[in-house]
Amino acid sequence: MVKQKNLKTEVIAVDPSCPETALIDRAAAVIRAGGLVSFPTETVYGLGANALDTEAVARIFEAKGRPSGNPLIVHVTGVGQARDLAELWPDVADALANAFWPGPLTLVVKKKPTVPDIVTAGGQTVALRSPAHPVAAALIEAAGVPIAAPSANRSTRISPTTAQHVLKGLSGQIHIVLDGGPTSGGIESTVLDVTREPAALLRLGLVPREQIEKLIGPIAAQFESAVPGPARSPGTMERHYAPLARLEVCSSSKRRAKELANTGRKVGWIAFECDQTMPTAVHQLALPSESSAYSAGIYAALHELDDAGVEAIIVESVPETDEWAAVRDRLRRAAAKTG
Ligand code: TXA
Ligand code: MG
Repeated sequence: MVKQKNLKTEVIAVDPSCPETALIDRAAAVIRAGGLVSFPTETVYGLGANALDTEAVARIFEAKGRPSGNPLIVHVTGVGQARDLAELWPDVADALANAFWPGPLTLVVKKKPTVPDIVTAGGQTVALRSPAHPVAAALIEAAGVPIAAPSANRSTRISPTTAQHVLKGLSGQIHIVLDGGPTSGGIESTVLDVTREPAALLRLGLVPREQIEKLIGPIAAQFESAVPGPARSPGTMERHYAPLARLEVCSSSKRRAKELANTGRKVGWIAFECDQTMPTAVHQLALPSESSAYSAGIYAALHELDDAGVEAIIVESVPETDEWAAVRDRLRRAAAKTG
C-alpha cells in the first residue's frame, strides 16, 4: 500500500462503548491493505497492523523506531483465533484465557510457522491477547486477521492513553487513529510465559500476579533477572515508559519539589493531594489514592508534565502493597537513567 512517511494521519472519533460499524470497517480495510491504525484498548492505545503481513508489521517498527529484537503482541478475537497461531495451547493457557479474556493478560505460547518471524523478533514464541475494549474487539473482528500492536508511542517513551498522546509521537507516520477517548486501565497488560512450568511473569500489568496464582498456583517471575544477554521480554528493559524530564520518586516529595523549584528549575510534582503552599514554579498534579484509579491517570500525568516543559518530575512514593506492584514497576522504569 502506502508510503509511510509524511502521511496525513486521519483522526476518526468513535463511540468507545458502541463503535460505529461504518467507521470500524474503514479502519479494518486499512489494516487489510497493509496500513497502520492506532486504536484504544482497555490498557493503552495500540499501533496495529495485520500480524500476518510482514511488510505491514515492518511499518510498525519503522513508525515507532522500535528495535527489531523487541517482539510484538498479537491481538486476537479470542481463544479460537489464538489457537490458530499457537503450535501448542497448554491447558493452563485455556484456564487463563477463560478467566481473563477478553482482558489485559498477554499469554506467550509456542508459535505456528504462519506467524511471521518479524512479529516475534525471530523467536519461537508469540505473545497473544484478546482485548476487552469494544473498539479494539470490533476492529480485530472486522479486519478478519489478527492484529499485531505494540503501544502507540515512539520506542522507550510513555505509552499513550489518549488519541492526542498518539498524535504527539506518531502524527504523519500512521494512517488512522481511532479516537475512543481516554483508556480506562492506563497501564499495559500483564505478560505471562506459559511455555514453561511453572508459568513465568515477564511483565507486571493490569492483571495482578495474585489473581493469576489463585487460578493456576505459584508462578515464577523473570522480569527482575539480572542475567546478561537478550531480555526475555524487552519491555523489561530499564528506561522504558520514560518521560523526557528526569523523574524521581521519593517519600518526602513535597520538600524535594520545593527544594528544586527554589534553585530556579521548572518542576512537576505528582502526589495524592495538591498543596496551596507550593511555589508557582511547581506544576502540581494530584492522582487518586486508589491503585486502579492511579494507574488510569499516571501516564496522562507524565504526558502533561512533559508537555508543560518541566525539567524534573518528582513523584510521591506509592504504597509497597501488592496492588501497587505494577505502578511501582512503571515508576521505577520511568526513573531509570538512560542506557
Ligand atoms: O497492554 C498492552 O499490552 C498494550 C496494548 C496495545 O495491547 N501493548 C503493549 O505492547 O504494551 P508493547 O509492544 O509495548 O509491549 C509488549 C511486551 C514487551 O515487553 C515485549 O517484549 C513482550 O510484550 N513480548 C512480546 N512478544 C513476546 C514474546 N514472544 N516473548 C516474550 N515477551 C514478548
Ligand atoms: Mg510499549
